[in-house]
Amino acid sequence: MSGALADRFRDTMRRTASGVAVLTTDGTAGRAGVTVSTLCSLSMEPPSVIACVHRDNRTLDAILKNGCFVANVLAVHQERVAKAFAGLIPELRDDRFASGDWRLAATGAPLLQESLASFDCRTASTHDFGTHCILIGEVVEIISGDGDPLLFADRSFHRLAA
Ligand SMILES: Cc1cc2nc3c(=O)[nH]c(=O)nc-3n(C[C@H](O)[C@H](O)[C@H](O)COP(=O)(O)O)c2cc1C
Repeated sequence: MSGALADRFRDTMRRTASGVAVLTTDGTAGRAGVTVSTLCSLSMEPPSVIACVHRDNRTLDAILKNGCFVANVLAVHQERVAKAFAGLIPELRDDRFASGDWRLAATGAPLLQESLASFDCRTASTHDFGTHCILIGEVVEIISGDGDPLLFADRSFHRLAA
């Protein structure tokens, strides 16, 4: 992609809004997590989601080795969790999980308490494209909570307007 098109792509995508999720995993490769804006529904049959993670990301490696992840969709009060798992809180860099309360999901991955929703997934398939890996998660358990979603647009966090 030319530099000009890449700049235009970044500036244009920046204006789109998304929800925010933290993908977490645990298993033989250890516990890890990453903040993403790329979680979305894939299919009802079987219930499944996709998320796109940079191939250099350490959490991706752990998810692939552990074979499971929880997609924790963040509620508006969980901005600190989003920042921690994006590496934006220096004092939490060594223990990002200290930003929230967790319990183990059925797959063994950490599930965030009081999230808007948590989808416990078995990693069913992956597809590399460009710099990223598309993760396909087959949902094995769903925990849904209350509240409004945390939103991300124009490089900052937002809440739904009344
Ligand atoms: C709101 C938000 C959304 C993000 N979405 C994604 C995403 O969808 N995929 C991705 O690979 N990184 C995404 N990132 C960046 C990662 O969270 C970040 O690079 C990573 O957590 C840094 O981890 P590290 O410090 O271990 O390298 C996002 C960051 C923020 C703040």
